[in-house]
Parts: sequence; structure tokens; C-alpha cells
Amino acid sequence: KMNAFVSSLMSRMTLDEKIGQLNLVTGGVPTTGSVVNKGIEESIKKGNIGGMFGIWGADKVKQVQDIAVKNSRLHIPMIFGLDVIHGHETVFPIPLGVSATWDMGLIEQSAHIAAKEATAEGLNWVFSPMVDIARDPRWGRISEGAGEDPWLGSQIAKAMVKGYQGSSMMNADAVMACVKHFALYGGAEAGREYNTVDMSLIKMYQDYLPPYKAAVDAGAGSFMSSFNTINGVPATGNRWLLTKLLRDQWGFKGFVVSDYTAVNELTNHGLGDLQTVSALALKAGLDMDMVGEGFLTTLKQSLKEGKVTQQEIDLACRRVLEAKYKLGLFNNPYKSIDPAREDKDVLTPENRAFSRKIAEHSFVLLKNNKQTLPLKKSGTIALVGPLADNHSEMLGTWVVAGDPKKSVSVREGIKNVAGNDVNVLYAKGSNITEDSLLNARSFFFGMKQEKDSRSPQQMIDEAVETAKKADVVVAVVGESANMSGESSSRSDINIPESQRDLLRALVQTGKPLVIVLFNGRPLTLVWENKHADAILDAWAPGTEAGNAIADVLFGNYNPAGKITATFPQSVGQIPIYYNHKNTGRPYDPAAPAKFKSDYIDISNDPLFPFGYGLSYTTFNYGDIKLNKTNLKGNETLKATVKVTNTGKYAGEEVVQLYISDPVASISRSVKELKGYQKISLQPGESRMVTFDINTAALKFYNDQLVYDWEPGQFIIQIGTNSSDIHSASVQWLK
Ligand code: IFM
Repeated sequence: KMNAFVSSLMSRMTLDEKIGQLNLVTGGVPTTGSVVNKGIEESIKKGNIGGMFGIWGADKVKQVQDIAVKNSRLHIPMIFGLDVIHGHETVFPIPLGVSATWDMGLIEQSAHIAAKEATAEGLNWVFSPMVDIARDPRWGRISEGAGEDPWLGSQIAKAMVKGYQGSSMMNADAVMACVKHFALYGGAEAGREYNTVDMSLIKMYQDYLPPYKAAVDAGAGSFMSSFNTINGVPATGNRWLLTKLLRDQWGFKGFVVSDYTAVNELTNHGLGDLQTVSALALKAGLDMDMVGEGFLTTLKQSLKEGKVTQQEIDLACRRVLEAKYKLGLFNNPYKSIDPAREDKDVLTPENRAFSRKIAEHSFVLLKNNKQTLPLKKSGTIALVGPLADNHSEMLGTWVVAGDPKKSVSVREGIKNVAGNDVNVLYAKGSNITEDSLLNARSFFFGMKQEKDSRSPQQMIDEAVETAKKADVVVAVVGESANMSGESSSRSDINIPESQRDLLRALVQTGKPLVIVLFNGRPLTLVWENKHADAILDAWAPGTEAGNAIADVLFGNYNPAGKITATFPQSVGQIPIYYNHKNTGRPYDPAAPAKFKSDYIDISNDPLFPFGYGLSYTTFNYGDIKLNKTNLKGNETLKATVKVTNTGKYAGEEVVQLYISDPVASISRSVKELKGYQKISLQPGESRMVTFDINTAALKFYNDQLVYDWEPGQFIIQIGTNSSDIHSASVQWLK
């Protein structure tokens, strides 16, 4: 039916109208490049625009859709997109935080709620999920993804696509997902934004491509090409990537849009003038050109000159029209535009309650000496730090529709949760940063640092005086929202110096110090880990930030988040990730020696390993019990551990399964995550946790890129994080 409909429509379209469908323009919010589109209304009337992003709201979208549907010759509806990244009007934690929940139900629901709010405001397409694997925390966009692990990243990619697209994209509350950034954007050299990516095919297939593939398998409707080159060929003009891999090998049936002016940027990559690169991108398999209008202004000429074919233009046009069909826009172009829903479905108390819940689940307890946390709901707390009484930084990076003013500050959250039982004394203590370069680059999208005009010393003095009057100090410190995210790479991933000065002074008071950390990436926290009594990583928690933080500080919720990207001790260790290779000269901490793979000035260990996160309670793991140790072919291995809650609080634990393949035809990662179970235990309660393992978990890409497993020994490892594990060995033959 779709085929026939689109064919019939295309038979009535002129060449210009077909090329028009390939043109995506921006309404201007936010602009992440130097170009914005002009003369949009006239262009829509002429049939020169297929879609628009950067506007939202039922009225606004309706006005624009009206022009397309009423005033263009063929009345073809437009598709309306937006960067709905971690929630829409109700904002959830940044994706790196959401991934730390290890809870696919919550993750899917977060995407569903975002879709519901976005559709209520006229949108039908979201530029999410971002599934780029990232092993370099200098790269600011690590905040927008699910961390370093391909297996976990794949589960999250699936859950997000399902949450956005629902059971059918025709549903009034479903949007089309746009999986980005295809591909390998997170592999940018030196963590520098938009930088070159150059990696082996094995690494690509084994470690970086799985989440994109998982999103295809989950039915994602669209993909966005990335800015970077891949082994010399920029993704946006890379036929191997966009056609051979994505469509021919993986069977992707949707359309591919470029990133912002990425077609034009092929010129800077050195591939030719605008006409040449536009033809190249189309031929590579790109269907829609974001903002740069290279397709619009050059494809007709290229067709005349035989540089592209009519079939190539038709194919791209067909894919864009099919997307509109799948969304039900030809049945009802106003499907998502419902002012009644806009009032009813957006920023509701239920959505806010969900935001609070997912934020609580995203927090990671990095340190908790002598059970400093949870705090008692009595006595005096000194609440300090530039993020303690702040709304503008609560939502994190890449928030377009969410209003920071509607967020709950930490100070407000503590009041809401602890009421008058606790005496809260407040002092700001420092600005987020005094560094002029960092200041200038960290507060874009119209934001400004809420800067105090007092001198740093005056602010610190006040904070110290405040701390002296209190039983415990809670310092809310870290990165501003836009210190991570797009175009926010950092070479130094410490907490900004002005805040470190504050922390040093607070430590001198001798009062118990709790750090509540805001961060869009793993930070180097060696000093903080040494001196603070407790560290709660809150990422950027979203609309309900303060309430969620207070719930956890006072023990209404026991934190269970686990980090999904390794925290290094030092930037010099980057890239650092748990699933690395062994090398020919592995370093053995039990027998340190020269001529091993190590550093002479620092250990190889991360500060916090992948999968790490504490709880207010403690969990004991028993030894692994296997149903058999010699297996053949398709048999199932059952690996069981007994996990016991040995502490005083009820709590959740993410029980993690890793597998090592010590002998193979290629050098394998030292271990790979292959499963997990999130369980909940009362104090004193035990649970037998069983993983069913079959040969699918043993497969890898060999040097011929054949995905299979090789017989031999495998080490099954189960534990509380990627370092702290119990092991058992099996033989598995074909
Ligand atoms: O979706 C984004 C992308 O992640 C980065 N460049 C701009 C796009 C549209 O805003």
C-alpha cells in the first residue's frame, strides 16, 4: 500500500519538488553552525522543503504545516523534528546518567514520555537516541550517549527506539527516532569535537557498531550521518557506510539525514565544491540534507551533467515520503498537533514524578566513608557550592524545550524533603569557574554563568564560616550544563579550579564533607576521592534535580546506579576502558616489573571501573556455581551466584556478567559484559541469581569479520562491577 501510494504521488512530482523533499531546514533554535535558513515560507510554498526542525508548540507547527498542506502544489505534509534528547519539556537526566540506571524499563518509558510531550507540541521526529560508543571523556558528547560498552549500549539503543516509536509510528503519541551519529562519532581522535576517526574494522564491528545495528533491528525509522571521517571518507559521503553496511548488510529501510551542514562540510574535508560533494553524498546513500541546501541548489544541475541519476534522486525522495507515510502524515498532517494535549500531556505531575524517579535511579554513589550518607533528618547542614542554589544548570546539556526555571534546585529539594527538621545554612562558596576561556565557552545557547561579583576569597571565607556552624557540609559542585555536550571537549577534566579551591578550604574545617557532583562526563576525582567523605554523582538530573538529590541524600531512596564509562585517575590514561586487550606484556600489579605495559608515574587502574557504584547497604557475592563445566554446541550454561544484602538498608544491586575468551584466533578483550540482572534485596535477604549463557554470548568478529565463536576455554565472571568479580572456568566445544 505504501509503495503504491508513494509511487502514485511521485508520478505527479516535478524534479524540483522531489529535490525539495530532500531539504531539511531549521527554524533557528538552536543553531549549532554558522548557517541558518532564510525565506522558509516561500520555499515551502514552492515545494522546496521536506521537513523542518527547531520549532515546537502546537500553534507554531500548525502554522507551518498549513503552508505546506494548503499552499504548496501537491499539499505534501512536512515532517517536524527537534533535538529531544533526554526528555522534552519535562527533562530527565542526561543520557550518560540515564544509562547508569541499567534499567531498560525506565529508559524505554523516558523515551515514551518524551515522545508523548513532543507529539503534543506538534513534533513527529526526534534526533535521538545518540548511540555513539565513547571511551574518551574529554569528548563533550560522551554525556549524550550510553557510555563505553557495546552490549549495554545496544540494549539501551533498543529501549529508546521502542520508547519513541511505540507499537506503531502512526500512534498519536509516537515519534520517529533518528539514530545518531552514524557512525563512530565517539571515536574522535584526542576527544576533540568533530575530529578524525580512524579505527580497525575489527574494533569498529566489535565495539562501536553494535548499538547502531541494534537500533536498526529495533525498527528505527531514520539515521543521522556523523560529521567525522571514517578511515579517510567522511560519513556523510561514505557509500560503504550509508549503503553497503547500513542498508545492504543490516537491512535498514528508513532514511538518512545529514548532520547540520555536514554535506557542505565535505568541502572542508577536501572532497570538492558544493555541487561535487552534494552529488557524492546523494550517491553515498544520504537522503536528506540538514540546513546546508547543497541538495536543493545543486542536484538539478548535477542531474543535467550526468553526475547523479534520476533513480538516485527518486530513491532518496521515496525514502523521505515513506517516512511521512509511516508516521501517518498523509492521513492526517496535523496528527501530532493537538492544543488540548499540549495542555494535558506536557510537564504533568506524573511526568515530573517520573523524572524524579529516573533521576534517583541514575545517581551513582562513588564513595561513602563511615556511612556519611544517608544524612540524618536533624541537625545543621551547610549547603555550599555554585550548583546548590541554582536552576539554570540542573537540566544538563542539549535541552531545547525544557525550561530551567521550572527545575527544582538542590536547596529547594532539601527543603521539600527535609522540611524544618533540618537546619540548612547556605553559602555559594565559589563561582562555577573563574577561568575566562572556560567561562566563555561553557555557557552558550543563550545561557550565562550566574556569577557572583564577590572575590573568590570572600566567597570561600563565607562558606568556611558556614561550614563551621554545621554538623555536615554538602557541597554541590562540578560542571555547568554546557561544559559537556556538543562542541565542549575539555583537555582537563577536573572540577573547575575555583570549586576545587572551595573544596580544599572546606576540607580544612574538618567537618564531614559530602560532594554532590554535577558532570556530563567521567571526571578526574583523585583529590576529591581522597578528601571527601562521600561523593554522590548526580550527573545533570533534569527537571526534578533537587527533589531527587534530596531523596537520596536523606535515604528515601538508596542509590543503585553504576557508571557506564570508566573514570580515569588522570587524562593521561585516556582512552581507558574495561574491555581492553591484554597486550603482549600485560602489567601484573602483584608482580610489578620493568618492560611491561604500564606508566612509570601512575598505575593502570581507573579511579572507578566500568559498572562501579556503591549502595547504602552492602552486598556479598558467593562463588559462582555452574550447572556444567564441559559444554558442547548449543547447550545452555547456567551460572549462579548467591547475592546477600549484608547491610542495614533495603537496596538494589546490578549483578553483572562478564565473559573472557583467553585463547582465540585474534587477541580478544580481557572481558566483555554479556548480561546483568538488577535485583532488590531487603537487609539480610539472599537471592540466587542465575544467568543462562549460550554460544551467542561467545561470538566475536574474527580477522575476516566473520561473527562466530571458537571452541575452548571461557572464563565466566560475575560481580558488582567490572573489576570486583568472581570467576569460574568452562570448556565449550563445537
Ligand atoms: O541533532 C543535532 C546533532 O546531534 C548535532 N548537530 C545538530 C543536530 C541538529 O540540531
